[in-house]
Amino acid sequence: MCRNPRKRRKPMTLVSSNQKTTFTHSVVKRVRSSACCGRLLLDLHAILALPAPGSDQPSAMSRTFPLSLEPLDAATQAEIEKRFLGCRFGLVRVKETGFLMPAPYAKYAEKYYNFKFLEDDVVVMTHPKCGTTWMQEIVWTMRSGLDFDTPLELGVRSPFLEFDSLENPELEPLAEWAEEFRARNPGKDPKEEGLYLFLADSSKSPRTIKTHLPFSLLNPSLPDTSKVVYVARNPKDASVSYFHHQRLVMVSEFLGEFPEFFDYFTKDLVTQGPFWKHVEEGWEKRDHPNVLFIFYEDMKEDIMREMRRLNAFLGTGYTDDQLLKVAEHTKFSNMKSRSTTNPTEAALKVGRFKAGEGEFVRKGVTGDWTAYFTPELEEKFENWVEKWKGVAKEIPFKYKINKKA
Ligand code: A3P
Repeated sequence: MCRNPRKRRKPMTLVSSNQKTTFTHSVVKRVRSSACCGRLLLDLHAILALPAPGSDQPSAMSRTFPLSLEPLDAATQAEIEKRFLGCRFGLVRVKETGFLMPAPYAKYAEKYYNFKFLEDDVVVMTHPKCGTTWMQEIVWTMRSGLDFDTPLELGVRSPFLEFDSLENPELEPLAEWAEEFRARNPGKDPKEEGLYLFLADSSKSPRTIKTHLPFSLLNPSLPDTSKVVYVARNPKDASVSYFHHQRLVMVSEFLGEFPEFFDYFTKDLVTQGPFWKHVEEGWEKRDHPNVLFIFYEDMKEDIMREMRRLNAFLGTGYTDDQLLKVAEHTKFSNMKSRSTTNPTEAALKVGRFKAGEGEFVRKGVTGDWTAYFTPELEEKFENWVEKWKGVAKEIPFKYKINKKA
């Protein structure tokens, strides 16, 4: 890994199985721009820092992205495209670690790797479907001085660092955001630079930033620079939740049932995995003073206990009465009913979610997996755990909980 910024910069590489070529954004350029995305209108001035810091990432002192990206082989890509209709723009894998991302990730990988975290940032890091939204809402509320009435969408209050990589690349960026971007970055193209990256970069401090990127794809200085709350969830419930999510979101549009999804999941063919590698990287850092490793199941079991841990970690100094209010505000039924945390209706309207596939804030329980795991899937699960046994057997996941009365 090149940690010396003075070292000569190598071009980022996109590696195919039989050749290594300089990365040219070719995977990404295949895509045409067309439709309009149309999200909620937002007053950006309420959330962006002023004066404009500009989007100057990566800077001259930035590090070269030290890993290689390779497109999936053509046969696997073709198979995936038939079952995940939204994955038609290609997928890239980080060769050294196996992380699988939509092809547009290649365009931004170095920017993410060089993203400048600030001392007062808190990063909520998770593998998808492990309780990110819940934790974001808790952390943001605690850091906002207990603002229970904000009308702003969570995704705006707590920006999603790599969302540019996960978007349908055919969509035009939201006009208002693009306009603001151009005003602050004359001559630059928001689609090339990343509009969500701009939002994360330009948001007012203190920032609560969401990411599904694992530590290895982010600035190596991260846990030394800013606090990270890593949330992990048992892989049976996480995979069931991810299955529903992948059917719901049009950027994936998975067509199959759970057994087929679990097959892709355990073969590391679902984006933003492999699950165990992601959790392993968080687990390895759990004793770092700037990292708080939290289990979703522990939050379900006793939210006040975990809230007190957070309170100490964030240094927010709330009383138990105040924490109880945060717990109430962020409990499942309340988050499900608020459009600022459950964007299902808005996303359905603009065609980002598929009708009939449930809601983004879905069920919120531990043990839902029992309705999905047949003896055959249990066997597949055991074999998968065996393959990852180093980490899989070390992390004390709970698959059932004794909920505090
Ligand atoms: P289910 O699909 O099992 O219901 P993420 O935010 O990382 O995408 O995680 C989504 C999971 O967290 C979903 O799980 C969702 O319902 C659950 N969730 C969201 N808000 C929650 C809350 N306040 N309490 C408990 N679970 C919540």
